[in-house]
Amino acid sequence: MVLLDGKKVSNDIKNEIAEEVKKMKANGEKVPHLAAVIVGNDGASLTYVASKVRACERVGFDSTMVRLSNTTSQVELLDKIYELNENPDIDGFIIQLPLPKQIDTQKVLLAVNPDKDVDGFHPMNFGRMALDMSTFIPATPFGILELLDRYGVDTQGKHTVVIGRSHIVGRPMSILMGRKGFPGNSTVTLTHSHTKNITQITSQADIIISALGVPNFLKAEMVKDDVVIIDVGITRVPDDTTEKGYRITGDVDFENVSKKASFITPVPGGVGPMTIAMLLKNTLLARERQLK
Ligand code: GUN
Repeated sequence: MVLLDGKKVSNDIKNEIAEEVKKMKANGEKVPHLAAVIVGNDGASLTYVASKVRACERVGFDSTMVRLSNTTSQVELLDKIYELNENPDIDGFIIQLPLPKQIDTQKVLLAVNPDKDVDGFHPMNFGRMALDMSTFIPATPFGILELLDRYGVDTQGKHTVVIGRSHIVGRPMSILMGRKGFPGNSTVTLTHSHTKNITQITSQADIIISALGVPNFLKAEMVKDDVVIIDVGITRVPDDTTEKGYRITGDVDFENVSKKASFITPVPGGVGPMTIAMLLKNTLLARERQLK
């Protein structure tokens, strides 16, 4: 069994990006600038945004965190987005999800300038992705592709089963794995809450990408020998033995499934760190695009 070490690979990617930034600085060019908008006080979202900002510092990007209160109106948030769209100093920005109830997420994502949409959530970028055009691929799916690529995991002609159809992970992943090229050329099954007899499907899978958010959902009896496992689950489970009072748990029963797997991502330290590295990569691409 080979551990798909997202922590190590994401560090490699950050070092590569830091080298690019050094060259930009040496040439007297402006460095990439990422802004992250966060609305409200959700603990997990604040943690994620803080690590995105820290990652920017680490590679030498400029970063701006925009914090808005939980009672922010739709109009106020849209005004902030128009401001970021127009600001020539900002190369890319993200709106951390989920948003409070009073805000229509679809309207907000549509307002982002597609050239600055480093999350790849704008319908134009999503459509471009589905049509194999150059675009911003959402960071988590992009990170999974990069992990498969760097470990040389064969995807061609394989049966990939994706669990969960979220707009951020499952749906784009199902499109990307079936695309022409590498990693891709897979035969894809997208499973979700209405799927019947999921074990019958997972037990035929060569590659399983689980983005469900149910701790320990995927058990050893549900997979075949030599399966490749990508665990995107990051559920906080209460745990008094830890300093924070919780631990992060994936969708996969790692202890038992890892005994059958050929490749597997750990949680934490698998897909999670890759997401941040690929957000930086998209921001670098956004900077390069602004120059064209
Ligand atoms: N919430 C959970 N994942 C993400 C992500 O990748 N980007 C944003 N903006 N919000 C998220």
